Amino acid sequence: MNRQKRIRAASLILILAPTVAMTGDAPALKEIMQELRDNLIEISDGILTDDFEQVAQGAASIAEHPKIPPAQVALVAAALGPEMPAFKRLDNVVHDLSVEISAAAEALDRDAVISGYQRMIEGCVDCHSTYKKRVAAVLSSQPE
Ligand code: HEC
Repeated sequence: MNRQKRIRAASLILILAPTVAMTGDAPALKEIMQELRDNLIEISDGILTDDFEQVAQGAASIAEHPKIPPAQVALVAAALGPEMPAFKRLDNVVHDLSVEISAAAEALDRDAVISGYQRMIEGCVDCHSTYKKRVAAVLSSQPE
């Protein structure tokens, strides 16, 4: 099912069973992550082809990624408990780096772009190695 169809199906569910559909048409965490991957590829493509505009664009998209739907945030918070602030901190690390990369790209500063890019990949993987499996298990046990 493509995204458009999924959104349409989700709105249909929303009309038919308002109490069941919690997330509406906001992208789920997994979809947000798939977009982050596309944006990261955009940044690396830009680095490899000396296209700073593309780098800036990919980084800006990461900086402005949609918020996790409130229903999913609640599930994650319930599962992680006191670890929730650490999870949010890891999200902030990636966010701050995306802003840094975007500024470096606009300044045509290749070294700063590459340094930010390397730290960003570490940031993605830091969260994944600690939380990805646990959070994915919590979210996949819930109907969307
Ligand atoms: C704060 C934690 C956190 C950060 C930071 C993070 N991720 Fe994720 N990521 C997750 C979680 C949790 C999942 C599992 C989501 C699920 O399966 O519902 C995930 C899953 C993914 C997936 C797999 C999606 C799929 O189809 O199964 C990709 C790709 C991904 N992330 C890319 C990225 C990229 C690229 C970055 C950095 C720019 C990043 N993530 C940063 C938490 C994070």
